[in-house]
Amino acid sequence: MHSYTKMLLGAAQKCIIALILVKCIVAVDLQYSEIVTVTSETRYVVQYPNAALTIFSKNHYVGGQYVFSSGKRISGDRLILNFEDSTQFTKGEDVEALIRYPAKGTDSNIITQVEIYAAVSTEDADTFFVDGGINKSYCEILIASNKTNYLEFEMFIYGY
Ligand SMILES: *[C@@H]1O[C@H](CO)[C@@H](O)[C@H](O)[C@H]1NC(C)=O
Ligand SMILES: *[C@@H]1O[C@H](CO)[C@@H](O)[C@H](O)[C@H]1NC(C)=O
Repeated sequence: MHSYTKMLLGAAQKCIIALILVKCIVAVDLQYSEIVTVTSETRYVVQYPNAALTIFSKNHYVGGQYVFSSGKRISGDRLILNFEDSTQFTKGEDVEALIRYPAKGTDSNIITQVEIYAAVSTEDADTFFVDGGINKSYCEILIASNKTNYLEFEMFIYGY
């Protein structure tokens, strides 16, 4: 085998091992709604009309993939939570997912940044804090998309 190829393979293996370690270390202490389909009666903003929503910035990544982010990494912070889920639908549905961290009360970490990589079959998708958030020790996040055939997301919460 060419030594350069060997080097690349070696690096890839190290990455995979590092990824497995990260997934093992990061505890998943969440309250999670699952990805649910919603109607004009059941969507979050209709059920909680007084909730103050803070929208995440939205960047188109590639194809139907988006990166939603809020806050900024600081030196000394670290990954405190990694979570992913995905669902497919037989037709375009209006969907939401509600994620609360930690499951109850507050955590000892202060949140610096939340990043969500999401894949949907539409441009009508957004992410919001509906409670807590950056510089707080808890957060509740709403991921919403209309007329999508699938929703796949991976979330990273950083803090110190
Ligand atoms: C989805 O549709 C609802 C109702 O028309 C609208 O309020 C909302 O802004 C749309 N987009 C998202 C991402 O929820
Ligand atoms: C979080 O705290 C940092 C440092 O004090 C500040 O610069 C930033 O604006 C705060 N962000 C929010 C969303 O409160």
